[in-house]
Amino acid sequence: MNTSTRIIGATLALAMVPTLGVSDPDEDSLTINGEIAIVTETAAPAHLENVDTIYSGWRFRSDETQAVQMDDFDNPGMIGVENALVDWASADGTEGKSCADCHGEAEELAGVRAVYPKWNEEQGRVTTLEMEVNNCRETRMGAEKWKYTGGDMTDMIALISSVSRGMPVNVAINGPAQSTWEQGKDLYYTRTGQLELSCANCHEDSYGLMIRADHLSQGQINGFPTYRLKNTKLNSVHARFKGCVRDTRAHTYKPGSPEFIALELYVASRGNGLSVEGPSVRN
Ligand code: HEC
Ligand code: HEC
Repeated sequence: MNTSTRIIGATLALAMVPTLGVSDPDEDSLTINGEIAIVTETAAPAHLENVDTIYSGWRFRSDETQAVQMDDFDNPGMIGVENALVDWASADGTEGKSCADCHGEAEELAGVRAVYPKWNEEQGRVTTLEMEVNNCRETRMGAEKWKYTGGDMTDMIALISSVSRGMPVNVAINGPAQSTWEQGKDLYYTRTGQLELSCANCHEDSYGLMIRADHLSQGQINGFPTYRLKNTKLNSVHARFKGCVRDTRAHTYKPGSPEFIALELYVASRGNGLSVEGPSVRN
């Protein structure tokens, strides 16, 4: 779709939401700590029918917000990573084991963030990183599960993401994961709520629009968890999905639900080729 048809369609779909104008993603490039080069723009993966180029949400943020993510000393999301390093090394549960006892240094999990959600052969379903962490806690440590979008969990996901920064997102969408991916795709294109808007209406048809003074991105999840200046904490993928569905005034699925797991796989696959960026900074 070219820019003008995209914007006309978008304006119709968003007729009920106040919009202020259009501006494309900016031209800035992202290198973290002067050494980790991040791909924030690349050719869309082949399965995307209506988009030629994919962009990280970072490209839609103001220069001030962008700057906060360029150095780990400035990035408040890195405090979550520090907290998680303490949990990583602390024994918990009836087995008296820590993550480190089995996995070694957190860097051993480099590359893992990039391929999740992923088909888990043993469980016979697609799992998210959160599910893998809780599976280790429950079945391997004899510890209590963490709340799906809780602080301990989101900090741990930030740690696991941080060691993959700069690696390309590369989730598998075929093979045994295909039916889950298709379910996620259906959800992405389904209009919900009083506003009758789908994810695609905003993040595919209308990215670049200013909506309530916010510059609408493609809704990519390569930067998760995201530290949001708005709520001053790290936000997980499913918490963000919940907020966006609620903004359409729809009833929403629960974090960790099969629907949100499928949606996460699909949305992740729309970002195949962008770099893992989490923990990122957004407004
Ligand atoms: C008793 C050993 C043990 C402990 C303790 C443990 N794990 Fe695991 N973990 C495993 C095994 C075994 C697997 C599955 C095989 C693999 O992928 O390494 C696994 C898998 C994972 C995966 C998926 C890795 C992948 O490549 O797909 C993540 C993420 C993970 N663990 C995180 C954690 C975290 C975080 C903790 C601490 C809260 C933890 N684990 C504690 C043994 C353990
Ligand atoms: C009414 C328009 C609208 C709809 C519908 C909508 N969103 Fe959003 N979404 C936003 C706005 C506004 C933001 C904040 C600005 C931005 O990052 O795009 C946002 C942000 C996001 C982000 C954060 C991106 C980042 O880089 O941090 C994700 C992920 C996301 N949305 C996913 C979804 C999904 C999945 C759906 C469908 C369930 C959805 N959104 C539906 C408006 C919408």
